[in-house]
Amino acid sequence: MSPTYGEYLRIDELLSLQTGLKDDKRKISNDELHFILVHQNFELWFKLVINELKCTRDILASDYVEETSLPQAVHHMTRVIETFKLMSQQWKVMETLEPQDFLNFRDELGTASGFESFQMRELESLMGKKWIDGKPIGKDESTEKSLYEVTCDWLQRTPIQGSTPDSSNDNEEVNTFIKQYLEAHKNLYPDTNQEAMDFFEQDSVLRRRRAGLIFIESYRELPLLSWPRKLISTLIELEESMILWRSSHARMVERIIGRRIGTGGSSGVDYLDMTTKYRVFIDLWSVRSILIKKEALPPLKNPEFYGFKGE
Ligand code: HEM
Repeated sequence: MSPTYGEYLRIDELLSLQTGLKDDKRKISNDELHFILVHQNFELWFKLVINELKCTRDILASDYVEETSLPQAVHHMTRVIETFKLMSQQWKVMETLEPQDFLNFRDELGTASGFESFQMRELESLMGKKWIDGKPIGKDESTEKSLYEVTCDWLQRTPIQGSTPDSSNDNEEVNTFIKQYLEAHKNLYPDTNQEAMDFFEQDSVLRRRRAGLIFIESYRELPLLSWPRKLISTLIELEESMILWRSSHARMVERIIGRRIGTGGSSGVDYLDMTTKYRVFIDLWSVRSILIKKEALPPLKNPEFYGFKGE
């Protein structure tokens, strides 16, 4: 028998969860109901976001990522990005809570705080280790691979001038490419060439990964590189949308509690503003400062390698 709308979506159960604490006999106010509903809405979106990000992570986790699976990875990411954009708007609904009215029930929260949102923490660890000003912060305790790690492994294998890590003269090819790139960079931007040199002055693994990244960014119109480039832009857009989400949360908080400390014991707005400095995909951000214009790029070798399959 076909289920009803309510049976399928379990609406009765869903709508019975806005009472405050389980055993609380207190009747909650209209404002508190609003407060609970907005939070629960976010947590539902977090669930969606975590699930979609896991799908992308799993696609990229394979040792060989089929070119045809990249559009699917991008598809999951697009859903996450749209959800984050929506969540940034959702703070506006929270802001209809008047600062003075929040005080009517703020004490009921005790030390409960968004700090304790385990889904938010799961989401963060799924994204990967956080960095501020190029330095890693916090410990990564998760045993599962993060999106950051699988992206690094995937970038590591980028064909550079048609050469892959298992090619016999890969090292030489990669080094020649980097050398040519740095020369071209120096001609255009002698004042900032050190920055570009530092980008590649790394152990061979990181050096190859970064060369792969710059290769995709530079020759992005080649058919074989266009989906990889699209994936990279969605990773950046995801991170950008999270930063905007964090900063609009901070503005909403500033508007409602001013400079009060948070229920979770942090400094409040100052702490939240600091979290907008977090970056996960640091290389994807920093590569932007050392790109060079197309006409100055080292000549492409093995262009046929980057054509469409079957061409
Ligand atoms: C009146 C509404 C709100 C106020 C005044 C507020 C305030 C704060 C403050 C001050 C913090 C810093 C931690 C602390 O000391 O407690 C925080 C953290 C957080 N809040 Fe809110 N918040 C509000 C609504 C929400 C909503 C609706 C969500 C959605 C789930 C949310 C999610 C979070 C998360 C995830 C954190 C942790 C951020 C991090 O550590 O990176 N907040 N909030």
